[in-house]
Amino acid sequence: MTDHDHTQTYAPDPAFTAQANAQADLYDAAGADRLAFWDEQARRLDWSTEWSEVLDWSDAPVAKWFVGGRLNVAHNCVDRHVEAGNGDRVAIHWIGEPEDDARDITYAELKDEVSRAANYLSSLGLVAGDRVAIYMPLLPEVYIAMLACARLGLTHSVVFAGFSPNALRQRIDDAEAKVVITADGQFRRGKPAPLKAGVDDALSGNGVDAEGTAESVQTVLVVRRTGLDVEWTDGRDAWWDEVVPQQSTEHTPEAFDSEHPLFLLYTSGTTGKPKGIVHTSGGYLTQASYTHHNVFDHKPGQDVYWCTADVGWVTGHTYGVYAPLSNGAECIVYEGTPNSPDEHRHFQIIEKYGVTIYYSAPTLVRTFMKWGAEIPAAHDLSSIRLLGSVGEPINPEAWRWYRDNLGGGTAPIVDTWWQTETGAIMISPLPGVTETKPGSAMRPLPGISVSIVDNEAKEVAAEEQGFLVLTEPWPSMLRGIWGDMERYRDTYWSRFAEEGYYFAGDGAKWDSDGALWVLGRVDDVMNISGHRISTSEVESALVGHRAVAEAAVVGANDETTGQAIVAYVILRGNVDAEEDRQKLIDELRAEVSREISPIAKPRDITIVPELPKTRSGKIMRRLLKDMAEGRDGGDTSTLSDPTIMEQIREKGTRG
Ligand code: WTA
Repeated sequence: MTDHDHTQTYAPDPAFTAQANAQADLYDAAGADRLAFWDEQARRLDWSTEWSEVLDWSDAPVAKWFVGGRLNVAHNCVDRHVEAGNGDRVAIHWIGEPEDDARDITYAELKDEVSRAANYLSSLGLVAGDRVAIYMPLLPEVYIAMLACARLGLTHSVVFAGFSPNALRQRIDDAEAKVVITADGQFRRGKPAPLKAGVDDALSGNGVDAEGTAESVQTVLVVRRTGLDVEWTDGRDAWWDEVVPQQSTEHTPEAFDSEHPLFLLYTSGTTGKPKGIVHTSGGYLTQASYTHHNVFDHKPGQDVYWCTADVGWVTGHTYGVYAPLSNGAECIVYEGTPNSPDEHRHFQIIEKYGVTIYYSAPTLVRTFMKWGAEIPAAHDLSSIRLLGSVGEPINPEAWRWYRDNLGGGTAPIVDTWWQTETGAIMISPLPGVTETKPGSAMRPLPGISVSIVDNEAKEVAAEEQGFLVLTEPWPSMLRGIWGDMERYRDTYWSRFAEEGYYFAGDGAKWDSDGALWVLGRVDDVMNISGHRISTSEVESALVGHRAVAEAAVVGANDETTGQAIVAYVILRGNVDAEEDRQKLIDELRAEVSREISPIAKPRDITIVPELPKTRSGKIMRRLLKDMAEGRDGGDTSTLSDPTIMEQIREKGTRG
């Protein structure tokens, strides 16, 4: 969907450059001595013990960064700003979905709240290294809970509140979480929807694919948000407002090893089982803080910063919570959807709070485009001085629309490439330095080493497509997959094992000016509105339905969501009546929703007599993708039965 217009470039505005945090010499400094550069970046943070070595890569691919250094992540994100005399600054402007429901929290207040929550969690007997699952909408308490965990060295696992009880249970079991923090419900498009009920189902095993109750969980802490009725398990459940507020605001944070695991975040891989990506403390926070300062040009005490991502995804972790708070930012946190009560909501918030930095996703920009330019035009958005994009390649048309309609035609756009696994931004322009091209993420950040290679690990020539690899370790890199180090090595490090490259799973190319273009996934991972979902995850949900014998899922181009999920299924028995077939298709959509999440529901499901397979029985997804994207033909000569595609076209039932 990207038209690669190589001619038009946008040079940084000299006035922006003059005041920018990052200058061109940042590239020189990193190029001269990469490890000395990262050593210097780590000094952005408060450490209680200094490290003896910047990087220990002797146990590759498991890195240790800032070896022996000790710090407390919550102290760095909260206390030190209060100690520096900035306790009165707003940390979070929280805005609820219902209008007029808002709350400002200063850094001093945040310190008290985080301390109270930490005191409560330690009163449960939790100790550093224990895991806590968090299943919550964007409430202030989600920030408080994450930071309280960080303060105690508890490893949190935030599960997106749009995931199903089944997905929640899978993640709770995998991490053996002792506590689940949730809310009674959440507001969605003006209506309260239950959430705690889903936790109850997940834990009891009701309607989920797990045996018995979740044994690891001892406590469920519930934030009262909607007032919906909830069922209660005495001895296990506690209301946040009955146990946290009376705790002391005094809490002395302990320093933890730089490599102490800060959080797990589950993400889709190429198999059905999600991977618990492990991130640690010192290296993660260093790169988070460094990138936020330089890529977003953030100035504490001046900027109003809004990252629109939900906390259930990595962007919400790094650029919603840890990076901005480590830099003392004034953050917008909005609970609801962009069209609640109407399509003006984001622009009203920008206008009211004077947002200066706005970091969002191409899918939302394209949605704004559909709603019409007159909507942002009805608001004074002149406070915006920088725009960011993440999650998928941004098509040049959306890039220009974004700059013109939200950025006053002048704001620099930083198109940031990174992944759950990388922990922080890896490839992006520096806003006062790099000339940008709409649709290109431009170049690796100072300190980051990238290559684009062919199958033999050879660097490809300009304009040739290859695999995006990271050739040197970086501070915020994942340290493994929870409980499965073999899968970690296999997934990321086996493809180019000899060279020791990290394989990102994305295709990319350099253009003739040396700008980097990310071309999308080359594996079986789809990107739906910037959300990662694997084809096999959806396939296994579909074949979990008794009527389905086989399923093949592909990601097809979609104008708004980037990709859409398209499924082809073969049934076990005969279902002939058209009405029954449509009913079954509805059931299958519901099944995927139950197994994974409503966001994983296929856009189209087609019941087919057969799937296109090679003689060795491998499904040829490429042909299905062609069909789903409305292209005809493709080479069918390797099919075991060359007439299959015709049969699918003629006899398939689509719903
Ligand atoms: C894609 C999100 C092009 C890419 C932070 C990557 C992008 C996957 C960009 C990671 C970008 C992310 N341009 N593609 N600026 N940013 N991607 O783990 O395919 O949810 O591998 O992390 O999103 O998705 P994840």
